[in-house]
Amino acid sequence: MKSKTSLVTGASDGIGFELCQVMASKGYDIVLVARNIEKLEHAAERLRASFNIETHIISCDLAEPFAAQSLLKEVKGLGLNIDVLINNAGVLFNGLFADIELSNQEKLLQCNIVALTALTHLFMGEMTRRGSGRILNVASTAAWTAIPRQNVYAASKAYVLSFSHALSAELRASHSKVTVTVVCPSYTDTKMLDNPEQGAGINVPKFMKLSPAYVAEQGVKACLAGKPTSIPGWSNLIGMLMLQVMPKMWLAKVVGRLYTRAGE
Ligand SMILES: NC(=O)c1ccc[n+]([C@@H]2O[C@H](COP(=O)([O-])OP(=O)(O)OC[C@H]3O[C@@H](n4cnc5c(N)ncnc54)[C@H](OP(=O)(O)O)[C@@H]3O)[C@@H](O)[C@H]2O)c1
Repeated sequence: MKSKTSLVTGASDGIGFELCQVMASKGYDIVLVARNIEKLEHAAERLRASFNIETHIISCDLAEPFAAQSLLKEVKGLGLNIDVLINNAGVLFNGLFADIELSNQEKLLQCNIVALTALTHLFMGEMTRRGSGRILNVASTAAWTAIPRQNVYAASKAYVLSFSHALSAELRASHSKVTVTVVCPSYTDTKMLDNPEQGAGINVPKFMKLSPAYVAEQGVKACLAGKPTSIPGWSNLIGMLMLQVMPKMWLAKVVGRLYTRAGE
């Protein structure tokens, strides 16, 4: 029987690599996408050593314009159809809006919003023609409220959440065999939280961090079941439900106080 293939962006590290592991454990061949080729090769090797699957690597900077179009071209060049698209790659620049260079804000928007939207559009079209497919978009609990100091990041994730929910409803209403799921992790133990290139460390106590393996498992479970939303962790789910009944401006103020470091 022909095996199925999943494409995962941001696949060489963190939640992305764990998503690859979960998909590989279910027998999917994996197309790993990120920028650094050595890291991609290493991640692909680890997958092949653990699972009886095929891997392909594609180096692609999703913060560059038209990245999604060139990625689709490379996938077609490999003769592959993508059964499950996982839009996981995302960047965070932590700090005050005025202090973060505009070029970095634009990279964030390009990667977190433009590339994700374009990849969804391009691969969803192919899936619809074939009559099946699943798409998993990685947002964040940051999507559910405005966050001072993670201003553009939280807004980009709010876009991913809203876009995914609306698209999921459109597909359901048209009885499509393609589904869209959005997963919203809270703080997760990856290098994103402590990345000097992205505004340095966000000090989160260990007990508050989810494991990337758990996030991946929950996201894939919801995606393969065709569910619209996954919020890993009961306390996060309850927290996000509670946020729905609070006034947005008041929330931004409270969250702003939590995120403002003493003395700033
Ligand atoms: N960690 C958290 O607390 C947390 C919480 C909620 C949501 N999330 C979301 O979860 C997703 C994964 O985050 P993570 O914490 O796993 O990140 P991570 O550990 O920093 O890994 C990022 C991955 O994305 C790749 N990547 C980064 N920039 C890229 C670009 N411009 N083009 C293509 N690939 C790129 C990286 O490889 P290269 O550097 O080689 O490209 C790496 O494979 C993101 O969307 C993030 O917003 C994370």
